[in-house]
Amino acid sequence: MIKIAPSILSADFVNLQRDVSIVEQAGADYLHIDVMDGQFVPNLSFGMSTVAALRPLTSLTLDCHLMIVEPERFVTQFAQAGADLIGVHVESTRHIYHVLQLIKAAGVKAEVVVNPGTPLSMITELLPIVDQVLIMTVNPGFGGQHFLAPMVKKIQALHQLKQQNGYTFDIEVDGGINDTTVKACYAAGATVAVAGSFVYASADPSQRIQDLKVATN
Ligand code: DX5
Ligand code: ZN
Repeated sequence: MIKIAPSILSADFVNLQRDVSIVEQAGADYLHIDVMDGQFVPNLSFGMSTVAALRPLTSLTLDCHLMIVEPERFVTQFAQAGADLIGVHVESTRHIYHVLQLIKAAGVKAEVVVNPGTPLSMITELLPIVDQVLIMTVNPGFGGQHFLAPMVKKIQALHQLKQQNGYTFDIEVDGGINDTTVKACYAAGATVAVAGSFVYASADPSQRIQDLKVATN
C-alpha cells in the first residue's frame, strides 16, 4: 500500500484545521505543504508561519515541498517551524548537495525534487544521501493539472537504481494523482503519493483517501 500525502494547496484555507484533521482521521501518512515564491514557479502560497501554525495541530509528518529559488536561505527556518521532511528542487539552487546537507544538519529528512523535464542523471550523486526523491508528475505551480504519463518510466528507472544500489529512500510522486494514476505510480515503484484536488475537491475527502489506499492494496 502506498503512503498518502494530501496536499493542503487544495484545502479550504479558512478551515485548514478541519481539513487537516479530516485527512488525519482518514489515515493519511503525511501532510504535503507546497511552498511557492512566485519566482521558481508562477504562483504564491505558504511560508514558514503556516508550518509553525499547523505543527501543534497534527502528528502527521509535515512534508514541505519548497518551490523557491535558493532554498538554502530558508531550510533551517522551515526545520525550526516544525517540518519533518524538506524537499528542494535540484533546479532551484547552484549547490544542491550543500542544501541537502543543511537540511540533514537541521535534524529533518532531506528530499530532492525533479521537474518533469529534468533527467535522473542530475540527481545520481545525491541518491546516497537523501531520505526521499520526489518525481514531479506535473509542472510545478498549480493543483488540478493532468498527470504526465511519460513520468512513469522515470519512476521505474529510479526504482531500478534504488534496487541495484540498495538505497532505502522513499519515492514520492506529485501532480495529477487519482485512483487510476496512483496505480501506475505504485506499480513503477513509488512509495508515497501526493494528492491535492483528488482529495480536497471532493465532497468526501476521507473516502478519497480510502480510494487511493484500496487502489494500491
Ligand atoms: C504542484 C504541487 C502539488 C499540488 C498537487 O506544484 O506541488 O503538490 O498540490 O495537486 P493535484 O494533486 O491537484 O495535482
Ligand atoms: Zn507538491
